[in-house]
Amino acid sequence: MKVAVLGFGTVGYGVYEMLKNADGLEPGSVLVRPGKDDAEFKVTSISEITEDPDIWAVAEVMGGTNPAYEFVSAALRAGKHVVTSNKALVAAYGPELEKIADEKGVAFLFSAACGGAVPFLHNIALAVESDKILSLGGILNGTTNYMLDAMQSRFMTYADALADAQALGYAEADPTADVSGMDALRKIMLACAVAYNMLPDSGLCCEGIESITAEDVNHIQAGGYTCRLVTSGGLSESGQLYAYIEPVLFPANAPECSVLKNFNMAKYIGENSGQIVFMGQGAGRWPTASAVVRDLNDILHGKRFMMRPDCERVAADNSLCEHKYYVRLPEELADALPAEKTDVYDGIARVITKEIPVQAMHDFAKESRKDGSSVFFAAIGE
Ligand SMILES: NC(=O)c1ccc[n+]([C@@H]2O[C@H](COP(=O)([O-])OP(=O)(O)OC[C@H]3O[C@@H](n4cnc5c(N)ncnc54)[C@H](OP(=O)(O)O)[C@@H]3O)[C@@H](O)[C@H]2O)c1
Repeated sequence: MKVAVLGFGTVGYGVYEMLKNADGLEPGSVLVRPGKDDAEFKVTSISEITEDPDIWAVAEVMGGTNPAYEFVSAALRAGKHVVTSNKALVAAYGPELEKIADEKGVAFLFSAACGGAVPFLHNIALAVESDKILSLGGILNGTTNYMLDAMQSRFMTYADALADAQALGYAEADPTADVSGMDALRKIMLACAVAYNMLPDSGLCCEGIESITAEDVNHIQAGGYTCRLVTSGGLSESGQLYAYIEPVLFPANAPECSVLKNFNMAKYIGENSGQIVFMGQGAGRWPTASAVVRDLNDILHGKRFMMRPDCERVAADNSLCEHKYYVRLPEELADALPAEKTDVYDGIARVITKEIPVQAMHDFAKESRKDGSSVFFAAIGE
């Protein structure tokens, strides 16, 4: 079966090469930008793919939402199966694309968009057929994990850890999506859509690692903790969907502490299965391409969807989830927090709060930063 590839960058090249040796699959044409069609298999117009009857499926690995949305919807409308590694596309247009796929009787799969080679979405999609997913999430961004690990194990500053991640190709020239938490938040949106048939697209709480300093890491380590950036999603007892991302401090015996460098650790808790954990490379050419090709193989074996055609967009509600938090902030702001313990040194307070709602903690930090105050916070994990 011939597979066309949209985009010939890091992942696109990997997919094209893997297709040469994949059982039952072979590479078709590759869409590149005008002027970059320097080989016979490269084309510059999507219609050369959608109108080619020999093309059985399309792998979208260009990134971005436009023109990826136009190209993917055109491919689905033309009756081609589509696989994508593009989390931004699925977070923005997943339900619309799934509806088109359903109408046309073709597949729309996106395991590579969440966790690279880590078969997280793939297994959630299988698990929901026979179990109820109580919660899901984990460490879903390798770049920030690499940076936090470098700050903790090699005592790097934030700026040096970021420069190191960029030099190794883990972080992009503009690292905002990774360090702000947005990249991993999109992944939890997709995981919720697969697990709960609800895509949370508002009400999400998003705190990345941009506020952490080398001094924070020193204090955290001195207290016997390790900081990781963690996504959380699930259904509260009243059936409300929650979804958020924030730094979390783990005690030394927690499995999250052993997630080093750019690795991911995703997990879900099934009502009957209990906790299931996945660890592996969340990004990179070959790991990501392997997930794209795995989805194509699943289509060969009859799989048609991960998100259902009636998947609804909903607002997340993070007001019912509560944690104790570690908060570093200017001394004069500390009284506003319900504290279990407060240490003050040189005008800086470090507070351990009582249990407070996730939404309240994120709102407090956002409000406090409006006047330029520097605030770092992390939930205290178990
Ligand atoms: N890299 C990873 O480890 C990884 C992991 C998981 C998921 N992903 C996702 O996979 C997707 C691709 O990532 P990547 O790292 O492979 O990106 P990349 O290296 O930048 O490759 C994207 C390729 O698509 C091409 N492209 C973009 N717009 C195009 C258009 N309109 N027409 C034709 N070609 C176009 C780009 O061409 P130009 O260079 O000419 O712009 C580039 O060659 C993204 O959605 C990303 O989030 C990547």
